[in-house]
Amino acid sequence: TSTQYSINKMKLPVKTSWHPWLHKGEVGGYTQVYEGGLTFATVRGAGHQQHFQAEDTDILLCSGPKSGTTWLKAILFAVMNRGRYASGESPLLTSGPHDLIPFMEFDLYMHNESPDLEHLPPPRIFSTHLPYASLASSIEESNCKIVYICRNPLDQLISHWHFVSKLRRANVDPLPFEQVFEYFCSGKHNFGPFWDHVLGYWKASLENPNKVLFLKYEDLKEDITFHLKRLAEFLGCPFSMEEENQGFIDEISKLCSFENLKNLDINKTGRRLDMIPNSMYFRKGEVGDWANYLTASMAERLEKLMEEKFSGSGLTF
Ligand code: A3P
Repeated sequence: TSTQYSINKMKLPVKTSWHPWLHKGEVGGYTQVYEGGLTFATVRGAGHQQHFQAEDTDILLCSGPKSGTTWLKAILFAVMNRGRYASGESPLLTSGPHDLIPFMEFDLYMHNESPDLEHLPPPRIFSTHLPYASLASSIEESNCKIVYICRNPLDQLISHWHFVSKLRRANVDPLPFEQVFEYFCSGKHNFGPFWDHVLGYWKASLENPNKVLFLKYEDLKEDITFHLKRLAEFLGCPFSMEEENQGFIDEISKLCSFENLKNLDINKTGRRLDMIPNSMYFRKGEVGDWANYLTASMAERLEKLMEEKFSGSGLTF
């Protein structure tokens, strides 16, 4: 069953239930629901699946929620628009990253089965949290590029828990972390089990490295310069020596840094979809915050589970 709720109105469902994630051809939405209280997002993936026509010049930013989507949106926008705006005049200074690069399921297809996207100038940049298996088939068939970002599951879980907790109605009890932890371990997670989401894009990146670039949040944190170059090359617009000498890479990494974005007025006071404060997308921006929340046995259990799920894939966290 799938009941559609308007995320704008935050009309909460009376009855809660879990829905499996969308698979190709399935009509309906994927509903994320935390039992007994709840916060949710009903995602209109069906419109995207059925109607989105990818173009060869498109760029698709894919991610699980709380993996660094906001950061990568800012980076992608800055890389693709470099040289277009004078220093100090980037739209990133006055618009939230989510307003510059729309989500397929929340922004474009939420209330419109078939939005008119053809008039948008190339390269069109969209984002989605949908799993690889749920993407519109035109994406696979075209030469568009996919950039995926994932994050250490422990940090992603903590970040997600904080985010979702803030979205809860004031009159419901806080979301107990122990319960969320159990959900996560059993695969009840926004947009499907963590491991399925990551492995879907990971395998696609191995099979088609020119089409799918697989990034990790932690790697970007460790060496942003290297990854900005890698990203620009992957997108077919490498930084020239002249651009490097003019400090473009440094400028982009500073513009998109956590501290800079978090402290911009638009991200301190703005709201997304009239509902979510932009500030919610900028919490700590650190690697390893999970250690402040997970007990040793929880961490051990999750690490073991990940070893099992990712065994043989060549991917580690
Ligand atoms: P934390 O909750 O751990 O702080 P998403 O953008 O996918 O929703 O992910 C949000 C997470 O990315 C949050 O993590 C947020 O603080 C972090 N984040 C947002 N902007 C960032 C940036 N510019 N650099 C690093 N991390 C950032």
